[in-house]
Amino acid sequence: MIITSSGELFSWSSSQRKFGVRVGLVPTMGGLHEGHISLVRAAGRDCGAVVVSIFVNPKQFGQNEDFNLYPRTLDADKNLVESAGLRDKVRLFVPSVEEMYPLGFDSVVHVGGVTGMLEGAFRPTHFDGVSTVVLKLFNISGADVAYFGLKDYQQVCAIRKMVADLNIPIDIVACPIIRGADGVALSSRNSYLSAAQRIQATVLSQSLLIAENLIVSEGCRDVGKIIGAVRDKILTAVDAKIDYIAIADTKNLKELKTLDNCPEAVILLAVKIETTRLIDNKIINIP
Ligand code: PAJ
Repeated sequence: MIITSSGELFSWSSSQRKFGVRVGLVPTMGGLHEGHISLVRAAGRDCGAVVVSIFVNPKQFGQNEDFNLYPRTLDADKNLVESAGLRDKVRLFVPSVEEMYPLGFDSVVHVGGVTGMLEGAFRPTHFDGVSTVVLKLFNISGADVAYFGLKDYQQVCAIRKMVADLNIPIDIVACPIIRGADGVALSSRNSYLSAAQRIQATVLSQSLLIAENLIVSEGCRDVGKIIGAVRDKILTAVDAKIDYIAIADTKNLKELKTLDNCPEAVILLAVKIETTRLIDNKIINIP
């Protein structure tokens, strides 16, 4: 079930496609949870062959970020993928860093437009690392379709833009955010939170619900007021430090000044609970 070599994965996928089987790709960095598995299930519904990649991509972590700390839980990941019930039609692609970036590797894919703001402003090299590895995974897997979670909303925008700008022959499917019973969006980084911090982390999703209620039920269109209400809720958590709160156009991620005459918007947050940096977002259909 586990493939570590790019050539072997490409051969497997090519043989599937030769028989007319649709190949789906689910790129991940491991530390798998039900959010990831929802993507695996979606791929299993649509495709006769599924590649789940697990690669903690050094190029998308900044110098002072958590690359070394990032969870590496291959045995548990393998069991979780098996629990999706795809049996013989799934392969785990688990390459080494040397396999992905051999000595002399020297190229970068830079996606413009949707990557400079929000996450890009706080993590300046992040999206170059993401787009470079994702394009490699598209090519190595030869997939017809790739699945991404809306949890990383800006990442989905960047991947869609890369695919459009570079005419990459692959379909992109964006899947809904999976949350815990307490509302916290599932994330591999949630494993860094203590029990007390996990309770504090609920302010992210709760603040998004407050914003939705203000917009949808109370008819508020004042972006400053909505962001203020979100901020107030987040700051009820004693260890919360806000990187950004933004209300943006769902397509180009440009920040909106007003919600008048705007059919939908996305609210995006990045908040540190002590040292753990969490992101969340919500698409709002504006009545
Ligand atoms: P990772 O954080 O492991 O996430 C892999 C995929 O799972 C992403 O598409 C992400 O949006 C999705 N995902 C994570 N949590 C989710 C949740 N709670 N609900 C729904 N989907 C969720 O994103 C990355 O890895 C990397 O940047 C990657 C694309 C693999 C490139 O290295």
